[in-house]
Amino acid sequence: MPQQIKLYYKNVTADIIGPEHGITQEQLNQITEKTDPLIKKINEQRKQGKTPYRDLPYNESIAKAVKNTAAKIKNRCENFVVLGIGGSALGNIALQTALNPYMHNLLDNNKRKGARLFVFDNVDPAQFGSFLEWVSDKLNKTIFNVISKSGETAETASQFLIIRKLLLDRLGPDGFKNQVIATTDATGGTLRKIVDEAQLESLEVPQGVGGRFSVLSAVGLLSAAACGIDIDQILAGARDMDKRVSDTDFYKNPAAINAAINYHYYNHGKRNSVMMPYCYALKDFADWYRQLWAESLGKAQDLAGKTVHIGPTPIKALGTTDQHSQVQLYREGPNDKIFTFLQVQNFPAKLTIGPAPESDPQLGYLAGADMEKLLNSEKIATEYALLCDKRPCLTITFDSVNPYTVGQFIYLYEVTTSITGALFNINPYDQPAVELGKKATFALMGREGYEEMAGEIQPCTKIDDSFLV
Ligand code: PA5
Repeated sequence: MPQQIKLYYKNVTADIIGPEHGITQEQLNQITEKTDPLIKKINEQRKQGKTPYRDLPYNESIAKAVKNTAAKIKNRCENFVVLGIGGSALGNIALQTALNPYMHNLLDNNKRKGARLFVFDNVDPAQFGSFLEWVSDKLNKTIFNVISKSGETAETASQFLIIRKLLLDRLGPDGFKNQVIATTDATGGTLRKIVDEAQLESLEVPQGVGGRFSVLSAVGLLSAAACGIDIDQILAGARDMDKRVSDTDFYKNPAAINAAINYHYYNHGKRNSVMMPYCYALKDFADWYRQLWAESLGKAQDLAGKTVHIGPTPIKALGTTDQHSQVQLYREGPNDKIFTFLQVQNFPAKLTIGPAPESDPQLGYLAGADMEKLLNSEKIATEYALLCDKRPCLTITFDSVNPYTVGQFIYLYEVTTSITGALFNINPYDQPAVELGKKATFALMGREGYEEMAGEIQPCTKIDDSFLV
């Protein structure tokens, strides 16, 4: 039986944390009634092709194109560099942290399963400049994957233009062509135009799949494959989860339960949602989730056009690190959060804690224990402490972190987001507020056609000295 991740939700119930903060059976029944038709509606929308992200795990041509490309570049790819931002970067980072060893990038070539990975999702000149210095004598062994669905995003475009010049200067036009792969819309956008003109190798961001729902397309899979990750298993895990999250029986559908509970708590004063993996490998999935949840669910208007300004605030934390940073607030601060732990039963490394020195027998309780046991005990301890303060806690359990369970996790959260969006009656697939910031950047950087907006922004560019201390 393949490993299946599970959602454990007893610790949000009134039986555990009392009726003031816990969900009662009656409330759960009510919310089941509201969610049931939405599961059917979402299944129907999927059949009508309205949510193409749902079909990515079945798209053999994407997987084939990704694997062919990864095989083709192998000899000129000791370093794989992603230039992208938001949905064009966070999934890549999360897959790498989850599925390759912590020291992957520092291992010798013969010890690594694939290329080193670097993802640049910012335009910090010090950060990027430092990387350019390191990579400048390794260019013919470095593949640059510029990823942008729109092909217009200023951050990605600027990184790409720097790399383009560097490659053209150092390696000439053939070198430029050899070392760049673009992942972008099949037909539209400036990046597609550049690809066509320079005849660059390219892959597609599938039509109708937004950035934050695109990790199971070439967007997230190429870097994974190039770095030695088994993408077939990721997709198989997603297909496994697809069956479970399509189930019209609420109590068998983990995405429906997850969405309904989060929705309930949002409406009962818990407007913040903390994801706290007790597993370093999963830490960047909390980041990926943060974008998925925030951009999809934070909306000004509902589907009827009514102003609602809705959306839970996703927060990332890491166990045990944040026990020593955030848990004081989580327990004693406002009871306005729901917690989701990610818990892993089996870690790839078994580490036994050494014996206590004779002079310090009080450390004996740790001696001989597995570090895995300590980490999981700390998860239980933190959850117990939160429950004592009547804070609702969900847990997603993993037997182990591997491509199959990670594929399930991705799909679970994508569909949870769709169902939560339906419960809020908003469109989870657009991001109008992000678009405005992108356009304002064009205006500030002098892009043609944005002169009027530049005029509107002008007052914001001036500092009023009387408020500067
Ligand atoms: O999820 C989204 O749609 C966004 O976060 C985008 O991924 C992000 O803004 C980058 O856009 P693009 O891929 O068009 O460069």
